[in-house]
Amino acid sequence: MVQEIPTIQIIDAKNYVGQTVKIGAWLRQKRGSGKLAFLQLRDGSAFFQAVVVKADISEALFELAKNLKQETSLYVTGEIHEDARSSFGYEMAVSNIEIIGESHDYPITPKEHGTDFLFDERHLYLRHLKPFATLKIRNTLIAATYEFFNNEGFTKLDSPLLTGSAPEGTTDLFETDYFGESAFLSQTGQLYAEAGAMAFGKVFTFGPTFRAEKSKTRRHLTEFWMIEPEMAFMHQEESLVIQERYISFLISKVLEKNEQELDILKRDKDLLQSYTELPYPRVSYDDAIKLLQENGFDVEWGVDFGSPEETFLANHFAKPVFIVNFPKAIKAFYMKRHATREDVVVSADLLAPEGYGEIIGGSERDTDYDYLKQRIEEEGLSLEEYGWYLDLRQYGSVPHAGFGLGLERLVTFVTGEEHIREAIPFPRMTNRLRP
Ligand code: 4AD
Repeated sequence: MVQEIPTIQIIDAKNYVGQTVKIGAWLRQKRGSGKLAFLQLRDGSAFFQAVVVKADISEALFELAKNLKQETSLYVTGEIHEDARSSFGYEMAVSNIEIIGESHDYPITPKEHGTDFLFDERHLYLRHLKPFATLKIRNTLIAATYEFFNNEGFTKLDSPLLTGSAPEGTTDLFETDYFGESAFLSQTGQLYAEAGAMAFGKVFTFGPTFRAEKSKTRRHLTEFWMIEPEMAFMHQEESLVIQERYISFLISKVLEKNEQELDILKRDKDLLQSYTELPYPRVSYDDAIKLLQENGFDVEWGVDFGSPEETFLANHFAKPVFIVNFPKAIKAFYMKRHATREDVVVSADLLAPEGYGEIIGGSERDTDYDYLKQRIEEEGLSLEEYGWYLDLRQYGSVPHAGFGLGLERLVTFVTGEEHIREAIPFPRMTNRLRP
């Protein structure tokens, strides 16, 4: 009986040592001599090398291998061997090659290319090592988010992306025509999450979020993905405990599942491991200002932190750090008043070390109808638009708290990437709408 050759993925090569297998792959690079051709292949699961030995195959097949162009898709058949010299550990001794799709002159060559060029070619650049590793880690973070909140008894609540309101301020809205009236692309799912928390107790939203941020920084996208948990019958301190446990869980999952990708990105795994140790420090905004002033920063009580301040604070503690109780004047209208102070609200930002900045913003929410109505008016927002939100304070209002994690900020931090554009498949920034 003729045994069928199994078709496998590269990642599973370790289970087939000594066996002949067939793999569908793309050619990343090739090098060789008159007698040998080394094909660097990828199939979306991993990267490895297939070796073509002239003496072992027909002349025609060797010629074909030698002339393959970068990014040609092919089936390679051959025996799997251990390969102690490569980090992957296995390679293939090729006995046959079938071309599936020829490649033209592929624009991204092994030479150095500028960032603008690579992002103009993002639809192709996705195939390369760094984007592959970064986006695989993003995928782990997404899966682990569902795992964490499902384990904790949260219900996923989908909030609308077309809205009539602007809870995070009116300066960075994308406006669009909605059958003759103005609609905005959602800046946050939070207000809907609050309605959900009153129905399901603990909810989280997870979806795209839009901010027409003019700021061209390495941390800002105009379209990013946010995870927003909201918990009824919960105060801020309990919310902070959930936040740090969540971040620690996510980092542990990446360490467990993405060793290959962390190595590709040369991310320090021991350093990441140190960020799984809890608790994270809690520092009041007041103390943070003092600490900054003592260290030569020209900051006054009342200002929002910029990137240098955030970087200093988190590096000072060498861990993610919560800055708690920000000035009321620089925070959103819904945040809870402090029990004893007029000028601050019960809020917290989680700052990541190594210059990655704010990854979480959150607060306890005020529960009082009259106070929130007054704050909405003070902020110049339309009472009509927020009538439904104020209803939540009329029919069994309870203490509740929540937070928002920016997925791409977290991906940037965990992968050690310099720029947030690397953390999303097709970034949207002030100067980029395509591809
Ligand atoms: O601090 P923000 O604006 O908070 C909210 O939107 C609240 N409604 C969250 C809540 O309490 N449910 O944004 C939360 C997080 C930030 O900490 C940051 O990680 C991310 O969203 N973020 C951005 N990420 C990328 N590009 C931008 N332009 C971002 N703006 C905020």
